[in-house]
Order: sequence, then C-alpha cells, then structure tokens
Amino acid sequence: MAKPARKLRSSEWFGRHDRDALVHRSWMKNQGIPHDQFDGRPVIGICNTWSQATPCNAHFRELAQHVRDGVLDAGGFPIEFPVMSLGETLMRPTTMLFRNQCAMDVEESIRANPFDGVVLLMGCDKTTPALMMGAASCDLPTIGVSGGPMLNGKFRGEDIGSGTHVWKFTEMLKTGAMTEPDMIEAESCMSRSAGHCMTMGTASTMASMVEALGMGLPGNASIPAVDSRRRLLARLAGRRIVEMVREDLRMSRILTKQAFENAIMVNGAIGGSTNAVVHLLAIAGRIGVKLTLDDWDRLGRTMPCLVNLMPSGKYLMEDFHYAGGLPVVIREIRKSIHRKALTVNGRTLWENCKDAVNYNHDVITPLAKPFKPQGGIAVLRGNLAPDGAVLKPSAATPKLMKHKGRAVVFEDIDDLNRRIDDPKLDVTADDILVLRNCGPKGYPGFPEVGNFALPAKLLKKGVTDMVRISDARMSGTAYGTVVLHTAPEAAAGGPLALVRSGDVVELDVAKRLLQLHVPDEELARRRAHWKPPRPHADRGWVRLYCATVQQADKGVDLDFLVGGSGAKVGRESH
Ligand code: FES
Repeated sequence: MAKPARKLRSSEWFGRHDRDALVHRSWMKNQGIPHDQFDGRPVIGICNTWSQATPCNAHFRELAQHVRDGVLDAGGFPIEFPVMSLGETLMRPTTMLFRNQCAMDVEESIRANPFDGVVLLMGCDKTTPALMMGAASCDLPTIGVSGGPMLNGKFRGEDIGSGTHVWKFTEMLKTGAMTEPDMIEAESCMSRSAGHCMTMGTASTMASMVEALGMGLPGNASIPAVDSRRRLLARLAGRRIVEMVREDLRMSRILTKQAFENAIMVNGAIGGSTNAVVHLLAIAGRIGVKLTLDDWDRLGRTMPCLVNLMPSGKYLMEDFHYAGGLPVVIREIRKSIHRKALTVNGRTLWENCKDAVNYNHDVITPLAKPFKPQGGIAVLRGNLAPDGAVLKPSAATPKLMKHKGRAVVFEDIDDLNRRIDDPKLDVTADDILVLRNCGPKGYPGFPEVGNFALPAKLLKKGVTDMVRISDARMSGTAYGTVVLHTAPEAAAGGPLALVRSGDVVELDVAKRLLQLHVPDEELARRRAHWKPPRPHADRGWVRLYCATVQQADKGVDLDFLVGGSGAKVGRESH
C-alpha cells in the first residue's frame, strides 16, 4: 500500500503506543475491525444525512456502502457517521432554520473525530449547503457525493415535476380544474423512485453547484438516484478521497474565488434556484472567499439560460442527464468560465468537460440559440432594498419585469393566509403583493413562501402571475415575477416594514431597481412609530439563531460561524 507523504491526522488517534491509542483502537475493534486497519491507512469519514424523515436521502445507507467499498479498494479505512438531517417536506417551520445547526454538527463531528478526509453524502435542499459549510470550516480533503434526482414524474401521459407541479396542481384545485382524488393520484405519480426533486429546484441546483465548484466528480449533478452509475460514482468517490488525502488536496485549494465565479455562471446557464445565492455566500464565508451579491449580478447579467428544465422549462433531470448533463453546459459556456479551476479528481474543470457531447439540443440548447436570454439572478436595489433583493428573470413574466403598481401589504404569513382568498380583498392584477416578516429573524428561519399563490378571485379570472415582493425565499421549483430576500428584512427594521397598502412600488429589472414611491420625510415618520416584533423564543436554538443570524445579502449564516477553525484539536479525548 502506498504510504502518504506526510503524517496522517488520524495517527494522533490510532498510530500511537500509549493508553489513549489502546482505547481508540480497542473500542473500534468491537465492530469487527482487524488490527491491520490501523496501520497508517487514511481514515475517511463518510458524513451521512440518511433519515427516513428526509425522503430524498432515504437511500443513503446503501449509497454509503458503495463509498465504503471505494475507500477499501484504495487502501483507506472508512468510518461512517451520522449528522443531523434536514428533510424539506416534513420539518417545521422550515429546514432553513436548521441549516446552520446542521453545519455546526458537521463541523464539530469532523473536527472531533480521527478523519483524514471526508465524503459528504447530501441530497435534499439544505443538506448540501449545510455539509459544505461545516466541512469548509474544517478544511480537510473532501468530496461531495449527491444522492441524485428521482426519475421523471409520470401522470396520465404527462411528465410532472416535483414542486413545480405541486404549485400548478394547488392552483388547479383552487380554481376547480382538478379534483381531490385527481390530486391524490398525482402525488403518487410524482415521487416514484428514490432521490431528490427532479426539477431544476434547489437540490438539483446545489448538486450542480457542487460539480461546478469542483467539489464533486463529473456526473454528480444529474445521474438519477436509481441509476447504477450513481453507485459507481459513489464508489469512485470513495477511491478518490483516499488519493486526495495522500495528495493533501484540501477544500481550500478547490474552493477559490474562481471556483465560486464558475458556479455562479453555471447557475445562470442552468436557470438555477435563487436559494443558491444565500448558500454559496455562506459557503464562501466559511472558506474565506470574499463573495457578494454584486458578484452574482455581474456574472449572471449576460449569462443566458441553456437548460430547458422545469420550473422555467419543460424537461426534468433525467432528461438532462441523458442529454449529457452539466459537462455539456460548462463546455457550452467555455468562453466565460475559469478553465483552470481545480476539481476533486485532480483535473481542471475544463479537462473534465472539454469532450462533453450534447445528445439533445432541445434539453440543453446551444449558447448561440439559448432557451432563455437571461439566466442569471438579478440583484435589485433601491429604497425598498438598500442591501439588495433578488429575482430570477428566467422564471418571471417578461412584461412584469418593468412594472409600477399599488402595494397590497400582508403583515405576515398568518395575515396572508387569512386574507389572500377573501373575495372582498381590494386587489387587481396590476397591484403588487407585499409580504413581510418572513425573513431569517422574522418568520423565523427564512421560509420558502415568497412565491405565495395569487388571490383565488384573480386566479379564477385567468391571472397567472403578479409581482410579489417579500423578505422570504422561494422554492427552487417555483416560478413567477417574485422579488425575494429583500434586505434588511422587515423584522430587522428594513424599509419593507414601512410599506402601506396603497403606496406605489416600482420594479424595473433592467435598471435593477426596487423603489418605494413615498417621500423620505413620510418614511421617517413611519419609522418613528415602528416597533420590532416580539422575540420568537426565550431559550434554545431559536433564541441563539434569532440573536446571531445574518441577513440574506450575507448568506444567513450565524455571525460567529463565519470563517473556519481548521481541523486541529489541541487536547486528548477524556
Ligand atoms: Fe428534498 Fe425537494 S424535497 S429535494
């Protein structure tokens, strides 16, 4: 077996000749591990977010087995460990409230244990950024392995997409175009295999970000969860992480500013989720790369969307994979990307993608004839969003991207739920719907409610989109002319707290403007009467979170978690 060039971190646990080493080895041996596994092999932690409460990651025990096999193939010693899992569909009030808590678990679990390298098993939306953030703060050699998307949903001869059709079916139920038995049949047809959402929602976007950042092997973004090639990828990742330990190829050598710039451009080209904005800002903060909202606007402004996937288009991740997947997209935007950015397999991003072949030009369109002209994330500013707000042009209605209208304000999500479908609600299709107190501190946890459904009475008249503004996020599977992540949020005293129904609001995406047409003196008067909302909790995680969470433009990490502490632990285990 080839020996590593330098002393392994794990040798501090297993490679010594004292009482503590006896303890470290002896208790591991109760799992049937022979003594030769402690002979200086790289110890690989397999960080597993398996949970039956996270359906998207419920196949991870099997996937971990393939990673283990790969680690053993390469002469490493695998140790699988669980971390907090974040299931998007079941957790209340929102998984985003717990992303940073999971990241803390990941960081401390990695640092406290005898790992030389780590494989991150992640799939459902928040599991990917949480694991990347936690691992980045330790900065060991690390590979991301995504769980893969579900197979295409199939309902009555039509392809249906997770999330995207949830919104469609819900609206159809509201207007009477769908019955409840239809809906129950549809839900069985939507999630018909293991894997995460198969639209270009947040999970697929983040799996693509892992590949574009260079943190995953080629194919990571798109191989379906049940395709045998997903298992192969897991096994190859297990083999490769052992080599990475020997090469001392740490996260910080891969996650450079150029890598983040590549990821932002790829996000534009795939029409990726707005959630990637906060997650990439947070990961960059952990690894010490200066990334801002302006980078998102600058790099996405001219990037067209090439990928015809729901929610913006008509295909799904399975189709994307058969068309050639992310390497085709990266090859298509080769003039823009930093080709020399290093990836986990030791090759550059360009070397991984230069021979990619596009097998379906309808699913992945050529750059010269893009699916949508604007793919990136638009960052809006103005007196309503001094620290920025975001909008996804590829999911918006073109004629609404320049719009001035009367605000109809909802104080919080309960107020919205109470009044939105009230036939007496004073609202027209030209109004702008404003929802506040749904940001990180306000909800709390920054939920995906920014794409809230239109008033039932307008839906019944055939209205399909309106400008909506909030300090919330939206699901990556959603669509509409939706202004999100308004910062500072209302609960932190942002100007969104001062808007009143009847005020005129202007959105001009081309000018990147979000303006409240109310004189400064009047806003100052309103501010003098504004009171911060009552605290959500007087103890526990929610109290810590609300006291320390940063705003959307900073990535919504806790302020004391930004940065990293490396992997050193000064003291023995006692
Ligand atoms: Fe897990 Fe969509 S619910 S990825």
